[in-house]
Amino acid sequence: MASYDVIIIGGGPGGYVSAIRCAQLGLKTACVEGREALGGTCLNVGCIPSKALLHASHMLHEAEHNFTKMGLKGKSPSVDWPQMLAYKDDVIGQNTKGIEFLFKKNKVDWIKGWASIPEAGKVKVGDEVHEAKNIVIASGSEPSTLPGVEVDEKIVVTSTGALALPKTPKKMVVIGAGVIGLELGSVYARLGAEVTVIEFLDQITPGMDGKVAKTFQRILKKQGLNFVMGAAVQSVEALKTKAKVNYKLRKDDSDHQVDADVVLVATGRRPYTEGLGLDKLGVRMTERGQIATDAHWATNIPGIYAIGDVIEGPMLAHKAEDEGMAVAEQIAGKHGHVNYSVIPGVIYTAPEVAAVGQTEEEVKASGRAYKVGEFSFMGNGRAKAVFQGEGFVKMIVDKETDRILGCHIIGPAAGDLIHEICVAMEFGASAQDVALTCHAHPTYSEAVREAALACGDGAIHA
Ligand code: NAI
Repeated sequence: MASYDVIIIGGGPGGYVSAIRCAQLGLKTACVEGREALGGTCLNVGCIPSKALLHASHMLHEAEHNFTKMGLKGKSPSVDWPQMLAYKDDVIGQNTKGIEFLFKKNKVDWIKGWASIPEAGKVKVGDEVHEAKNIVIASGSEPSTLPGVEVDEKIVVTSTGALALPKTPKKMVVIGAGVIGLELGSVYARLGAEVTVIEFLDQITPGMDGKVAKTFQRILKKQGLNFVMGAAVQSVEALKTKAKVNYKLRKDDSDHQVDADVVLVATGRRPYTEGLGLDKLGVRMTERGQIATDAHWATNIPGIYAIGDVIEGPMLAHKAEDEGMAVAEQIAGKHGHVNYSVIPGVIYTAPEVAAVGQTEEEVKASGRAYKVGEFSFMGNGRAKAVFQGEGFVKMIVDKETDRILGCHIIGPAAGDLIHEICVAMEFGASAQDVALTCHAHPTYSEAVREAALACGDGAIHA
């Protein structure tokens, strides 16, 4: 039995970052992880592998659609699927090994196995019971499926199965037009599959700024994705080599059916707390099955904290990382803080979509007087040079103070551009502050500045 200042349960972005920060702050730290590799869902079966497949399939798309325009001739590449999966696995391996190295460097012990908490101050892994003054639960989330839909991870898959299909599908149905559905739907559409996305609501990506969502859907349609909107999936019948998806259109209650070689269920994720023994401990949960915490990530049981996907808030790796660092500061007697109003969200399709702060719909509903500044990437020389003129930057500011309330970008490198506005918002900046900052030419970032200029006397290249 070993004794620690902190034991963190879960080695995903929330848990491993928290463990490193705890160790840096001088706390004797261990992290329990039952998977073969550190990194959690994000590194093993989520963010990182999907980015590898998005990159490879985007390269294919560029070769097929834009190479000849640039004077690059020759045979278009064909897909060697096993090699593409091997490339993806290599990327995963490099990243997960990197965390192992960081653990060693920072003297964090990796306790291999699945943890439970028999009582406050104790963590059980296998037959071993370890003592911990503080326990941080960072056990993440798992895909939530639908009633009437049985996942076999072969024909009816979640994101996990979709990242390791034995072959690329010819026909794919995606249930849910959220982040996972659109990223992975894009991958397989680019690799040649006929992809149909079935969405319950009338808008894709719920919670996204309305104008961005409409533009995004139009661009995805042009890329070949089919959408069935306002449709509730009732059941999926798995046959030997394919599946039939039954859905009802909400507007007239009519029944429809579509078949596919692969059905991806991407209807959200739910907190994963199985086996931890939280019931017996009396840990308070929310109605939605999340661990209830106070403003400092403490549960109702002294010495037990929770962060990331198991608590409320967006299920995003970077939100979990921030909470991981902040809870470490709290445990070390410092002041950990997360600014929940400045958490960016990114969808890694091509073009990328990124957002921070409030949508126009939210600002309108709040009753605040506001102004919108927009700038199209068609006015950005750099974007046009690489066939990425589609999309725009939309900035929403307070009408009186010019303070930035939100920013929404669809276009090249949107996921990187958004951070300029995250920093600006952290500093309580106005659009004019951004507009008066010199931006290098020619960069995509100029589009952000132009949107800021559009909040004032006007953009230059519009
Ligand atoms: P999501 O919550 O983003 O989207 C689920 C979609 O499924 C919604 O549009 C919902 O209306 C629809 N839906 C639900 N029930 C349905 C039904 N019966 N029939 C048709 N449509 C139905 O969930 P998703 O995409 O599974 O992602 C899960 C989590 O993982 C999210 O919190 C997301 O933020 C996170 N994630 C983030 C990524 C990123 O930041 N790039 C990448 C992948 C996941």
